[in-house]
Amino acid sequence: MSENQTSDSVTDSSSDASRSDAPSSGASSPGTLAILGGGNLGQALARGLVRSGTLRPDQIHVTSLHPPSLEALAAEGFPVGRDNLVAMEGASTVLLAVQPQQITDLIDEIQGGIDPERHKVISVVTGVSVDQLREMIPAPTQVVRAMPNTAVSIGESMTCLAANPDSMEALEEAETLFNGVGITLRIEDEMMTGATALCACGVAFFLRSVRAASQGGIEIGFHPEDALLLAAQTAKGAASLALRDNHHPESEIDRVTTPRGCTIAGLNEMEHQGFSSAMIKGFVLSARKAGVLFDDEEAG
Ligand SMILES: NC(=O)c1ccc[n+]([C@@H]2O[C@H](COP(=O)([O-])OP(=O)(O)OC[C@H]3O[C@@H](n4cnc5c(N)ncnc54)[C@H](OP(=O)(O)O)[C@@H]3O)[C@@H](O)[C@H]2O)c1
Repeated sequence: MSENQTSDSVTDSSSDASRSDAPSSGASSPGTLAILGGGNLGQALARGLVRSGTLRPDQIHVTSLHPPSLEALAAEGFPVGRDNLVAMEGASTVLLAVQPQQITDLIDEIQGGIDPERHKVISVVTGVSVDQLREMIPAPTQVVRAMPNTAVSIGESMTCLAANPDSMEALEEAETLFNGVGITLRIEDEMMTGATALCACGVAFFLRSVRAASQGGIEIGFHPEDALLLAAQTAKGAASLALRDNHHPESEIDRVTTPRGCTIAGLNEMEHQGFSSAMIKGFVLSARKAGVLFDDEEAG
């Protein structure tokens, strides 16, 4: 962990202290939310916040360029629509969840409707730094950059948060919101591209490794559905072991690898084939790409 990533700043929704069973209106309450951009992440977050009891559906207004894509959400009781300004009228927190190439148009559209006294703005848009957000949405409006992942839908997201010192209240609100759907960590903005690779892209990388494990299971002789269950639950158990008491993965690996045993044989074969190296290279490339997504759009 780097200096700014102390374990003290990690907060976990699984602790009773940080998770409320019912929506509340106290000082740390996330209030009402406008999710501008109800795509994959926006919809997953809306459902995750309701599932965790952080907010009710009627407290989350979701917008999209094509509202028919929000029909399922509407049927679940969420206010939905195309009009971002209408969504913001009833909201205390405004969450920007559009693609990097769409954020300039979105902010142009909502600029006149931002009330610095009432609105806190959170952006989950990849590649747009806190300073770039600040240029588009000037002080005194408080602005936070967040990097969650699609596990928000089941309360298991790893969400990194960054903000300037002038936006500490918004940062606390963002923590309250995202602690409802997982764990949060405050980091420096410059680490956000790394967080994008590890947390957001990481979901796909770990799922691909689960799929590879299940394919191995099928070749060994399991039916596909059994192979997937065995692989996914084993991956979940392994991750839980690493999270418990901050155990280093290698100390848990030592417990499984007996000399001349089958685990070390399989593990070493994977390493001969470049397993760790492939993962590291994948994360590094994703981080590099995440860092230029918005800037490339601006330049192009
Ligand atoms: N998916 C992830 O795992 C993940 C994780 C972390 C961060 N992010 C970041 O979060 C952002 C959203 O990702 P995503 O996967 O949810 O993308 P997505 O599925 O493409 O969703 C973007 C949504 O924004 C809507 N939209 C675009 N312009 C709009 C506007 N002016 N007003 C209202 N709605 C507008 C789009 O509407 P239409 O569909 O009708 O065009 C679409 O529903 C991206 O910047 C992404 O990099 C994603």
